[in-house]
Amino acid sequence: MKTIRFGIIGCGLMGREFASAAARWMHLQDMRARPEIVAVCDTNPGLMDWYSDHLPSVRLKTTDYRALLADDQIDALYCAVPHVLHGDIYPEIIASGKHLLGEKPFGMDRAQNTAIMAALARRAQGQLIRCSSEMPFYPGAQKVLDFARAGRAGEILEVECDFLHSSDINPDKAINWKRMVGVNGDYGCMGDLGMHVCHVPLRLGWAPDTIHASLVKRVTSRPDATGARVPCETWDNATIHGRVGDGPGAFPLTLRTWRIAPGESNTWRIRILGMHGSAEFSTKSPRQWQFMDYTVGSPQCWQVEDLGYQSLFPTITGGIFEFGFTDAILQMWAAFVDEAAGGDARGFPCATPEEAAKHHAILTAALTAGTEDRVVQVEYHT
Ligand SMILES: NC(=O)c1ccc[n+]([C@@H]2O[C@H](COP(=O)([O-])OP(=O)(O)OC[C@H]3O[C@@H](n4cnc5c(N)ncnc54)[C@H](O)[C@@H]3O)[C@@H](O)[C@H]2O)c1
Repeated sequence: MKTIRFGIIGCGLMGREFASAAARWMHLQDMRARPEIVAVCDTNPGLMDWYSDHLPSVRLKTTDYRALLADDQIDALYCAVPHVLHGDIYPEIIASGKHLLGEKPFGMDRAQNTAIMAALARRAQGQLIRCSSEMPFYPGAQKVLDFARAGRAGEILEVECDFLHSSDINPDKAINWKRMVGVNGDYGCMGDLGMHVCHVPLRLGWAPDTIHASLVKRVTSRPDATGARVPCETWDNATIHGRVGDGPGAFPLTLRTWRIAPGESNTWRIRILGMHGSAEFSTKSPRQWQFMDYTVGSPQCWQVEDLGYQSLFPTITGGIFEFGFTDAILQMWAAFVDEAAGGDARGFPCATPEEAAKHHAILTAALTAGTEDRVVQVEYHT
């Protein structure tokens, strides 16, 4: 099996998720390649020992990401740093010629994303660049995708995709960089969660032409590390209403990125309603999906199917068992590594830079629409 040597830039929450997924690669079956984490980088040196303690393959620990870019014993990089840094670091990674799985939102704002896309125009032949988005790798999400791609929905009535959290309902939750405009960006919750809700609609070709958005800011201050209350400036919730297409076939696309959705914890949901069929999946019921096939005059009956563990990339886990967040991360990494080794990601590659750029067009329009309370045309070409 081919080995792809990885460096990780950003050893926080998501860096650890990737390291853990790489460490259980034996979970996957029939892979054409495997990742080996050989280098890690974080400006906080205290975070890197966890990696070297658990992964004997780590031979380089550094606070300077450029040391990883210059290292010809590294084939690929995973970059999981705060949003404000994407615009500088991703173009440098692309210029290094190494494969990149960059965390969303792939640039803090549209200007940063445009700089990243400009760098991409000069990418090396065969260099793989992808954006992280793992939720569509749930088996139920894959079922909804297959349902839509097979045309079972018929004429579309409405599509919804949501990403919902609730811990920000607590006004005493400490502030972090994701709640600071200067580091997270003006998009607020949309920058954090927008790629998650745009990925599947964009993959299915459903890019809205016009947008209206309702942006909600409820918690305006939070305690910092000293306990003092400091401004919390970012949007808490965004509900984006788009219109896909024009003429008689046009349909509404609703995207919710909420950090204050009472009771929800990392709920990702997709729902497609059509004249001939409808389908829905939510991570709240991770082993089930629901669907309805309708022929004129027949009863309208939703069916619920327990899927168990039917993953895109086969694993050792028995089909009777259940699938969860860390499995979705593993599947996303399997798709990236498979493509980096010349495969087709079993027909479902990770989110592409072009999809990330379109999601920036949508979020930029949503920010204008929400702050100016008007309908905005989405400009997909900068
Ligand atoms: N795919 C997902 O589900 C998901 C979930 C959470 C976060 N994310 C994304 O992952 C990225 C990181 O988020 P996180 O939650 O892991 O944040 P985090 O704060 O836990 O980790 C970020 C790390 O980057 C380090 N860092 C900062 N500047 C650096 C630099 N110049 N060089 C090297 N390291 C540097 C920080 O010290 C920190 O350890 C963001 O883009 C975020 O949107 C994705």
